[in-house]
Amino acid sequence: MDAHNSERHRRPLFSSRLSIITVAAGSAIGLGNIWKFPYITGKNGGAAFIIVYLCCIALIGLPVLISDFIIGRRGGGSVVSSFRALAGERSPWLFGGFIALFGSATVLSFYGVVAGWSLEYVARAACNDFAGKTPAEIGGMFTDFITSPVAPIACQLLFMAITAGVVYAGVKKGIETFSKVMMPVLIGIILLLCLRSLTLPGAEAGLAFLFKPDFSKLSAAGVLDALGHAFFTLSLGVGTMITYGSYIDKKEDLAVTAVQICIADTVIALLAGVAIFPAVFAFGVEPGQGPGLVFVTLPNIFAQMPGGYIFCILFFLLLAVAALTSSISMLEVSVAYASEDLGVSRKRATLILATLISLVGVVCSLSMGKYEAQLTFFGKNFFDLADFAVSNVEMPIAGALSVIFVGWMLKRRKVEDELTCNGTLPVPLVGAFLFTAKYLAPVAIAIVFLHSLGMI
Ligand code: TRP
Repeated sequence: MDAHNSERHRRPLFSSRLSIITVAAGSAIGLGNIWKFPYITGKNGGAAFIIVYLCCIALIGLPVLISDFIIGRRGGGSVVSSFRALAGERSPWLFGGFIALFGSATVLSFYGVVAGWSLEYVARAACNDFAGKTPAEIGGMFTDFITSPVAPIACQLLFMAITAGVVYAGVKKGIETFSKVMMPVLIGIILLLCLRSLTLPGAEAGLAFLFKPDFSKLSAAGVLDALGHAFFTLSLGVGTMITYGSYIDKKEDLAVTAVQICIADTVIALLAGVAIFPAVFAFGVEPGQGPGLVFVTLPNIFAQMPGGYIFCILFFLLLAVAALTSSISMLEVSVAYASEDLGVSRKRATLILATLISLVGVVCSLSMGKYEAQLTFFGKNFFDLADFAVSNVEMPIAGALSVIFVGWMLKRRKVEDELTCNGTLPVPLVGAFLFTAKYLAPVAIAIVFLHSLGMI
């Protein structure tokens, strides 16, 4: 049923293996690595959590990523049309495509808000706004900013405009070119920050926290955090990697590409830890501060550190660049759908969708400030509700659907063809992959899902 070839020729393809890795790693590496990974690691006690996280990436994240790539490349279309090409018109599997579409738009609406904060913080760092302030004052500045009605929205809209600009320019000219320029910048900045952090007196305590496991600090909730985060950080469960998979050339080795993306993503997350924790310990600050780690604890540390002025600017620039290469991948999911399945021109689709998604983002932002009371539903403000609906409900469901689809519905021969490029590549672990896709990943995802809904 996968009669997709004539259609495929008209679609853009990434130009080389390096481009695929840069673009997909650009999607994977984002706020999740630089903001969320360090704070959940801090909250869960450090090294032991990291070991569990690495297992989750290898055993669950990687097979789901490979499944997404298989669906995208074999299906050869947007997230919905790929399922349609493989499962048939009117198949219930199209549901998987549609919820991914919904998820990608929703995730971008609140991701754009946090990414907007990083733009504001680049400006604040450049104006040296944190100098001479107490930690409490820096905390107050953050709360005042994110709850105010205008400034964070202006930043969010600016961020969304840049995102839309890149997607508007197209898959190759926009997304590929942008990622190829930005990813080296990102790596350069993170290495500089690591160097600064590691040369502070007292940095060893931070390294011990990151790399010396103490399993007594690990809780069951920590294990589930690790699994949930493995999903988010690899951009799984919202159709991003299915859409990007459809731009991968038939000759590329999907499994090796996926492994390289997982490695790149993990290395950057660990480097973010190395950039942050030695500094946190060197200044005697508490590592488990939660989401404020990056916007409150770090500016406070930079304000006291020799050379902190420059490093603070670099840090928030890093955050903004990482967020941009991710947000373009979220917008691309619905733009690809609208332009291929609904026949809207790509440029038009980009403008309309970016506007709609930004408007939802405005509501997310307002729901944290003065309008919180009006914008609270089911006991959560709209921002938290959007985050919860996608991260805890939609992503696990769509992620499970893609591994189950590849594990159970696609014929083994087709999976083998994709993994071995029609028998031309030796891929030794097809059996192991199928076992994980069929059993291990769906069960693990179901456990996280039920836990996050408070059912177990
Ligand atoms: N993976 C990115 C991060 O770590 C975020 C991201 C990009 C994403 N595309 C996504 C998350 C799709 C979920 C789904 O920040």
